[in-house]
Amino acid sequence: MKEVTVNASSSYNILIEKEILWSAGKYIKRLIGDKKLCIVTDDTVDALYSKPLEDSLKSQNLSFIKFVIPHGEASKSASNLISLLEFLATNRITRSDALIALGGGVVGDLTGFAAGVYLRGIKFIQIPTTLLAMVDSSVGGKTAIDLQAGKNLAGVFHQPALVLCDPDTLDTLSNEIFADGCAEVIKYGIINDKDFFNLLKLGIKNNIEDVIKQCVTNKAKIVELDEFDNGTRQLLNLGHTIGHAIELCSELRVSHGSAVAIGTVIATKIAVNLNLCSKQDLNEIIDLLHSVGLPTECPYTASALYSVASADKKRSGDSISLILPYGIGNCKIYKVDICNLEALIEKGLNSL
Ligand SMILES: NC(=O)c1ccc[n+]([C@@H]2O[C@H](COP(=O)([O-])OP(=O)(O)OC[C@H]3O[C@@H](n4cnc5c(N)ncnc54)[C@H](O)[C@@H]3O)[C@@H](O)[C@H]2O)c1
Ligand SMILES: [Zn+2]
Repeated sequence: MKEVTVNASSSYNILIEKEILWSAGKYIKRLIGDKKLCIVTDDTVDALYSKPLEDSLKSQNLSFIKFVIPHGEASKSASNLISLLEFLATNRITRSDALIALGGGVVGDLTGFAAGVYLRGIKFIQIPTTLLAMVDSSVGGKTAIDLQAGKNLAGVFHQPALVLCDPDTLDTLSNEIFADGCAEVIKYGIINDKDFFNLLKLGIKNNIEDVIKQCVTNKAKIVELDEFDNGTRQLLNLGHTIGHAIELCSELRVSHGSAVAIGTVIATKIAVNLNLCSKQDLNEIIDLLHSVGLPTECPYTASALYSVASADKKRSGDSISLILPYGIGNCKIYKVDICNLEALIEKGLNSL
C-alpha cells in the first residue's frame, strides 16, 4: 500500500492499492465509525464498481443509501446538486454521516460540493475511478458544478476526509479517457519535477501506483502552500488557460486532456519564443505527449483562441496569468497584459 498525507486546513490520507475498493469499508469504518453513508456515483461506474464497495460496507455492518447520476459532464449541474441535497435530507443524513464519491471527476466535484454545503458541511470520501480523478480532482478540495455561463463557476473549497485509489479500476477505462488523465500526469512533471518527467518516459501504465503516488505528492505540496488558489496553486493550470479555450472553440468535441496537452505545447512554444525555454525541452514534451496518444497541434487560430481566453474566469482586470515552462520541471507564473495575449498565442501556434 502507498500512502500520502495532505496537510491542508484539514489533514487526510490518500491510500493507493490494487483491490482497495474491496476493503474500503474497513478504512471508512476506521474513519467515521458506525455512521450512515451515501454513495454517489454515475450509471457507468455503478454497474462496474458499486457491488464490491457495497459488499465491503456490508461486511463492516455499515448502512448506506445510493444516489446515481447519468454519466457525463452535463450531470455536474445545479439541478443534480439540489436533487442530491434533497435526497440527503429526505433520508435524514446527519452532520456526523458522510458521503462517498465513487467515480470520476464529475461525481467527485458534485459530491464534494454537496458535502461542503449540506448542513453547512459534512465529511466526504473520494474513491476516484479515472486516472484524472486519482491524480488530480480527488485531491485538493476544489469542488464545483457547471453553470449555463461556463464550467466550474460555482463551488466551495471542501477537503475530503479520505481518498482511496484502486488502480485496478483503471482497467475498464477507454484508451481516450486514460490518455486524458495522462495529460494531467505529465503536467506534474513539467511543473516542478524533472525526475518524474523522465520516469514517465518508461511508461505510465506499468508504473501506475508509483505514478499516482508521485502526482498526488506533488499536488499535495502545492495545495499545502496555497490551498485557496491565490498564488502557487495557479501552477496547476499549466496548459489549462489555452486548453479551456480549445475545449470551448471545439464545443467540447476536443476532450479536456487533449486540450490540456495542446495547451501545454502552446505554452511551451511561447516560452521558447521568449527565449525562456530550450527547444530540446519542447521536443521532449511533445514526444512524451505523443507517446501516450495525446495530440499536440491546434486546429484553431490565435484570434479564435484569444477571444475565448480573454473571457476566462482566471483573468484579473487587464491581465491574465499564463503558466510557462522555463524548462522541464521549472514552471513559473507569467502575467500577460490582455492586449498582448493574442500575439503571444500566435507565437505558440507557429512551428519552431
Ligand atoms: N476538483 C478539481 O480539482 C478538478 C481537477 C480537474 C478536473 N476536475 C473536473 O473533473 C471532471 C473530469 O473528470 P473525469 O475525466 O474523471 O470525467 P468523468 O467523471 O466524466 O469520467 C469520464 C467517463 O468515464 C467513466 N468512468 C469513470 N470511471 C470509470 C472506470 N473505472 N471504467 C470505465 N468508465 C469509467 C464515467 O462514467 C464517464 O463517462 C471535469 O468536470 C473537471 O472539471 C476537477
Ligand atoms: Zn485539467
